[in-house]
Amino acid sequence: MVLVECFATRTPSKYHRHASTNCAGKFFSECYEFQPQNNRANMDNIEQQLATRLGRVHARQRLGIEAERGHHVFGRGLNFFHPENWYSAHALVRYAIQLVGMYERGQRNARNLQVKKNPIHLPHLPKAFHDFKILHLTDLHVDMDERNLNALIQTVADLHYDICVLTGDYRARTFGEIEGAVAGMQRLVLMLKQPVYGILGNHDSVRMLPALESMGVIMLMNEATALEREGARIFLAGVDDPHYFRVDNLEKAAQHIPPDAVSLLLSHTPEIYRLAAHADFDVMLCGHTHGGQICLPGGIPLTLDSKCPRYMGAGKWRYQHMQGYTSVGAGTSIVNVRFNCPPEVTIHHLLQV
Ligand SMILES: [Fe+2]
Repeated sequence: MVLVECFATRTPSKYHRHASTNCAGKFFSECYEFQPQNNRANMDNIEQQLATRLGRVHARQRLGIEAERGHHVFGRGLNFFHPENWYSAHALVRYAIQLVGMYERGQRNARNLQVKKNPIHLPHLPKAFHDFKILHLTDLHVDMDERNLNALIQTVADLHYDICVLTGDYRARTFGEIEGAVAGMQRLVLMLKQPVYGILGNHDSVRMLPALESMGVIMLMNEATALEREGARIFLAGVDDPHYFRVDNLEKAAQHIPPDAVSLLLSHTPEIYRLAAHADFDVMLCGHTHGGQICLPGGIPLTLDSKCPRYMGAGKWRYQHMQGYTSVGAGTSIVNVRFNCPPEVTIHHLLQV
């Protein structure tokens, strides 16, 4: 059994819940009065509750950027061009693929989930965590196409793992309603073995946070938590989206992690690899790139929508002492097709060298 320690109360919880210092030791679900059917007045209430949960500045930054009119195609984020925000181009890409008769095939490819295994050798891993398995799901975009979600639910149902981590992008669009994504995540989370940890991506609204936490997902919003096994501990941290919202805070996420402990970081995108490596994280798990999603033969991506070296676009990589893994993700964005880049779920296997 994995125990999760609450940093606020310094007490382990067998319920696999997490509490932040902002919540004064309460479980997240106790920090909200979230009702999915709530009206506008209650949404305003959620804004206040997000300030309590995240801190006033983080909540205001996230909500403020979300409220800016439209998501910008050029500028504003870590990289210059944001094709995920260029909605008129999405239809053009779809028509072009339909025109050459590849659309059905691309959609079938999008449901052809692969289960990838990634061994991670760590010299200072506590013996109790040898053989520890982490199911990594990312870029789910659960409201893109119900058939994709059904395939994902079927795939994860048979997997064996100790914890599950979600590295963001649960929603298809980058703006607008959240109900479709929340409903899809509810279906998926019910099929996952607890504990489940999560972070938000550039497609996600912070307004989804109460719903995800109410489902039992332990959201790491520039926070860390301790995983405990037989008295040994390793640390799992997560940051809010660094790609578009740029509200990630590694300093805050790492502040309670002892310098000699094994530490894993969840980040939506690999783009903060330099800062993460020099913050002394041992492992960084991320997604966002989709591995290109529409690739040339041989899996050569046309774009990774990321400001990072190409070798970090998919699979295993290393920067300085830090080991990284960029999952190509389980879902699709912009157009519901994949070519030469099948979707994946990943099982990371921690091994003592
Ligand atoms: Fe993303």
